[in-house]
Order: sequence, then C-alpha cells, then structure tokens
Amino acid sequence: MAEPHHHTDPTFSSATGYDGGCEGETAGGSDRRTFLKEGLMAVAALTAVAGASVPLEAMTRTYAIGAAGAGLATLSYPIPTADGATIDRANKVILIRYQGMVYALARECPHKGTMVDWQPEQNRLYCPKHKSTFTANGTKIQGKSPRSMDRYAIRLEEGKLIVDTAKVIEGDGTNWATTGVKVG
Ligand code: FES
Repeated sequence: MAEPHHHTDPTFSSATGYDGGCEGETAGGSDRRTFLKEGLMAVAALTAVAGASVPLEAMTRTYAIGAAGAGLATLSYPIPTADGATIDRANKVILIRYQGMVYALARECPHKGTMVDWQPEQNRLYCPKHKSTFTANGTKIQGKSPRSMDRYAIRLEEGKLIVDTAKVIEGDGTNWATTGVKVG
C-alpha cells in the first residue's frame, strides 16, 4: 500500500503520489507545473526548466512560484494575508495561516496518502477517503489517520516563506509542534 512518506523526494513522489487522477495533474519531476497567481512574477527561467507549455490555471488559493525544475525541493510563497489555507495542488502542499503562525503541511493524508482538503466553514482539514479530520494546523481530531498531518520545514526569508519539501517532519513527531513560522 502507499507509503506515507514518498514525498520526501519530489521526483519520486511524482511517480507514486498519484491522486486518482481526479485533479488532472501530472506533476512529474521534469514537467511539474508552475501555477502563477496574479501579482506574482513569472520567472522565465523556471518556465524554461519546466519544458513544454506551462498552463496558467485559474486556481484560486494557489500561489506556488517555485519548484518547476526537476528535483527542486524548495518552494517560495508570499505570506498569506489572512487566516486560512492556500492549497498548492501541484506540489501537494497546504500552507496554513492560523493564529499568527504559518505551517506548511504535506497534503497527503498520513493514513493512505489521499489528498486532504480544507473546509473553511468548519475551520478544519478533511480527508475524503476515510473521513479523518484535523484542526487548521494539522493536529489530528479523529479518524483513521495514525497521526497529525506531516509538515515541511519552513522559514521566513526576505519576506517570503521558504518551504523545503525534502525535509518532512512527521505528524506529532520530534520538532513537529514547533515547525512553523511566526507571522503575527
Ligand atoms: S487516507 Fe485519509 S483517512 Fe484514510
């Protein structure tokens, strides 16, 4: 069955982190898409690395501006201006701003790797596969997930959030509770 941690290597994860195809993504290591939101700079170099055409998809709440190149594990995001979730579908990251902190959650459910969604009405994260629920910062509430959601290393650098998807901090594990950036 699916390993919960295949996202440690972006190239490998693209081959194994298949999401049932329901999102129409082919986030392969070399053709990983770059989603650009208005107001963000399109970096020509990244587009070139990404190979063929890089479609601009009208996905609100998606802010990814990095990781277009094969093997790149570092993503850069603007600091969200309000509490809530920013889902980077291409890179399977959920950026959460919550109570003055920002966390970068691995979007894959720790149970079987299904893509977790944000439910703003309930202010919680929800796995549709077996109905695990998590608080806004990824803390497990209930369900089949064996632990809270995994987080990626995150830091603040020159006003941007830098997320390192090569560094996974397992849910509830050592340093998990402190893996976040204070922005409030
Ligand atoms: S895959 Fe998420 S609860 Fe089973």
